[in-house]
Amino acid sequence: MAVIQIKKGIHWVGAIDWDRRLFDELIPLPDGTTYNAYLVEGSEKTALIDTVDPSKTGELLEHLQELGVRRLDYIVANHAEQDHSGSIPEVLAIYPEAVVVTNEKCKAMLIDLLPIAEDRFQTVADGASLDLGGRTLEFILAPWVHWPETMLTYLREEKVLFSCDFLGSHLAQSELLLWDENHVYQSAKRYFAEIMMPFRHLIPKYLQRLRTLAPDVIAPSHGVVYPHPEFILKAYEEWTADKVRNRVLIPFVSMHGSTREMVEYLTGALMRKNISVFPCNVIRADIGELAKELVDAATVIIASPTVLSGPHPAILYVAYLANALRAKFKFASIIGSFGWGGRMLEILQAQLANVKAEILEPVMVKGFPRPADYQALDKLAAAIAEKHRGIGILT
Ligand code: FEO
Repeated sequence: MAVIQIKKGIHWVGAIDWDRRLFDELIPLPDGTTYNAYLVEGSEKTALIDTVDPSKTGELLEHLQELGVRRLDYIVANHAEQDHSGSIPEVLAIYPEAVVVTNEKCKAMLIDLLPIAEDRFQTVADGASLDLGGRTLEFILAPWVHWPETMLTYLREEKVLFSCDFLGSHLAQSELLLWDENHVYQSAKRYFAEIMMPFRHLIPKYLQRLRTLAPDVIAPSHGVVYPHPEFILKAYEEWTADKVRNRVLIPFVSMHGSTREMVEYLTGALMRKNISVFPCNVIRADIGELAKELVDAATVIIASPTVLSGPHPAILYVAYLANALRAKFKFASIIGSFGWGGRMLEILQAQLANVKAEILEPVMVKGFPRPADYQALDKLAAAIAEKHRGIGILT
């Protein structure tokens, strides 16, 4: 790989993981990812902002070599998760004068997670700064965006914000500063859904703080760098707002076609009412796409056959995910079929305990749907249309 200049004396020295297809053994990465580390050179001191996943330490070290870095004074650790901190021990071994600059909480977590001696740390509080000689790093503590120790680092003179995981995207590409807006928007939205959405209510106060700072460049620790931060700040303001779209997400599983028939019928009924619909077969789906849909769909209808008296396990997983991600959909319901009974409704409703959505009348069908069942689905579609109209989102 090659280093990339962000501004004079500020370089990207991270690694591109083109082939990685799963993160945390949970999050699909259709476009790979990057681990962004940045080297900031002042007239007196040099700082490395974050490191890379341990599998890519060699690339980070090659980049430091390429820039002729003989002395490293600081390694700023914005976040303890190993995809950014995992190379710190090796960098410390190669640069024995370097100290790790981070907050108290992150220091404790790094000591728990990695072999780093306590005397290699220098801790900073919110608002503290570090002089590099003509360049100043300022630290902004941002707990729970997304871990409790998360920190952002701001290079005051050049107005570059190193935002760590916040505002990132899982996107491997060689063009760090020049990119296709639509592609990056979709990727950043998916990343927001998977990683940041559970903290949706905390994020706006940090967005306001960033608006006040008005950075010229935002450089996250995954994906592209934003030379025009308005793009990503505006997107986050939309995604974290309460506003939803005139869209219905239907995650479904069908074993013998009855639930699929219901889903297809409901999809048609909603389309005839000019409501955008996404029926998502969760057995085939990329779970990241599903999470992305949860960012702003107004309504979620969970559709499942009955398996061993409860929902299909894949649907239970989706309900768990929607609940854990604290998605903001306003209305929900459950449709599905059963052979001889079951507790699907109560199991799914219990699984959605964190969701604040209004539950609309469920439609449960014995076997394959009959005329009365289609009427019940029509009634559900009409109720959804009315609810959407009621919150003013039918345009
Ligand atoms: Fe990219 Fe929370 O680590």
